[in-house]
Amino acid sequence: MELVLATDTQKAERDRVTHAAWGSPLTVEQFQQREARLRAHPWCREGMRTWLLMDGGQVLASCETLRMDSYLRGPDGAHVKGTSEGIASVFTEEALRGHGHATRLMDLLAERVAGETPPHHALLLFSDVGAPLYRRSGYQEAPAWDWHLPAAGGLSTHAVDALLCDGDVPLLLGQMRRPDVPFYLWPSAAQVDWHLERERAYAQLLHRPRPEACGATVGRSTALWAMMARYDQLVVLMMDAESLDDAVALLEAARGVAHRAGLSNVVLWEEPGTLPWVARVADATRVARDGALPMLRPLRPGLPPAARVDFPRALWV
Ligand SMILES: CC(C)(COP(=O)(O)OP(=O)(O)OC[C@H]1O[C@@H](n2cnc3c(N)ncnc32)[C@H](O)[C@@H]1OP(=O)(O)O)[C@@H](O)C(=O)NCCC(=O)NCCS
Repeated sequence: MELVLATDTQKAERDRVTHAAWGSPLTVEQFQQREARLRAHPWCREGMRTWLLMDGGQVLASCETLRMDSYLRGPDGAHVKGTSEGIASVFTEEALRGHGHATRLMDLLAERVAGETPPHHALLLFSDVGAPLYRRSGYQEAPAWDWHLPAAGGLSTHAVDALLCDGDVPLLLGQMRRPDVPFYLWPSAAQVDWHLERERAYAQLLHRPRPEACGATVGRSTALWAMMARYDQLVVLMMDAESLDDAVALLEAARGVAHRAGLSNVVLWEEPGTLPWVARVADATRVARDGALPMLRPLRPGLPPAARVDFPRALWV
C-alpha cells in the first residue's frame, strides 16, 4: 500500500465516487462542477492536495489537505507564523470499509506531512463520524457547541454601521483581534473567501440568490458569515465583538440577512471569544454540534491540547 498524490483525472473520478457522501442535493455532474470550481479558487491553488491510498491500481481510500496559517508563540513571546494542514473528505468506498484503510491513510499522511519542510505546526480535521476513528491516529478532539438563532423578519439592520460585501473581507479580517494564547489557527482572507466561493457555487447551481451581505460591522466589532444552502443556514465564520450591544447588533443583522435570503437560522460556533456575548443574546439556544468535531494532531512539541485551541468556523474544511 502506498500514499500518492492524485492526478487531475483521478480527482475527477474521486468526485464521482464521493458524491454519495457529500453531493446531495447536487447531481453528480453538478458536484463535479462544484469541486472543479473550488479547486480553481486561489486558496486551493496555493495549498490543496488530494491524496490516495493505493494498492496496485486500486484506490482504497482518499482525502484532501488544505494548508492554512497558524501562529505559535516563540521564546521571546512573539507569535511566529507557520502552517498547519486541514484534512477534509476522508473517504473509503462502501464495499471497502472496515478494513482499516482510512486509518492507514491517516497514519501515512501524518508521517508524510510531518516530514515536510518547513515543518508544519499541526494537522486539523472536523470529524463527521465522532472521535474514535481519528483518536487512533493521534488526534484529540475539542468540545463542540453551537448557538442557533432563528432567522427573523422585521429586524432592522440599522444598529450596525455597515453590511459587508465580499471585497470588504480582507480589511475587516485584518482588523479583528486575535486570541492571546500560545497557539492559534487564523484564516487568511483567501481562506475566508473560499467559504464565499462555496456560497457562490451553490447559489449558481441551485438557482437561489446569495444573501445581500457577507458580514457586518459596528464600531470596532465585526462578524463575517456565509450561506450554507444545503443546510438552510447562515453560518458565522468569524466574530469579534467588543461588547454585548455590538454582539446583539451583529447577530440581529445576521438574522435579518438570513431571513431575507430565505434561510431558517443563524449558526454561531461557540468559542471563548463568542461565548460571553452570545450566551446573553435573547433567542439564542446552545446545541451540541452535529458533526464537524474539531480534532488536532500536533506535529511538534509544545502545542497545547486541542481542548485549549480555538476553532472559529472559518477554519472548517
Ligand atoms: C468514515 C470512513 C472514512 C471510514 O473508512 P474505513 O476505511 O472503513 O475506516 P477504518 O476501517 O480505518 O475504520 C473503521 C472505523 O470507523 C468507524 N466509522 C465508520 N463510519 C462511521 C460513522 N458514520 N460514525 C462513527 N464511526 C464510524 C467504524 O465504526 C470503524 O470502527 P471500528 O474499527 O471500531 O469498528 C468511511 O466509512 C466513509 O467513507 N464514510 C463516508 C464518508 C465520511 O463520513 N467520511 C468521514 C468524514 S469526517
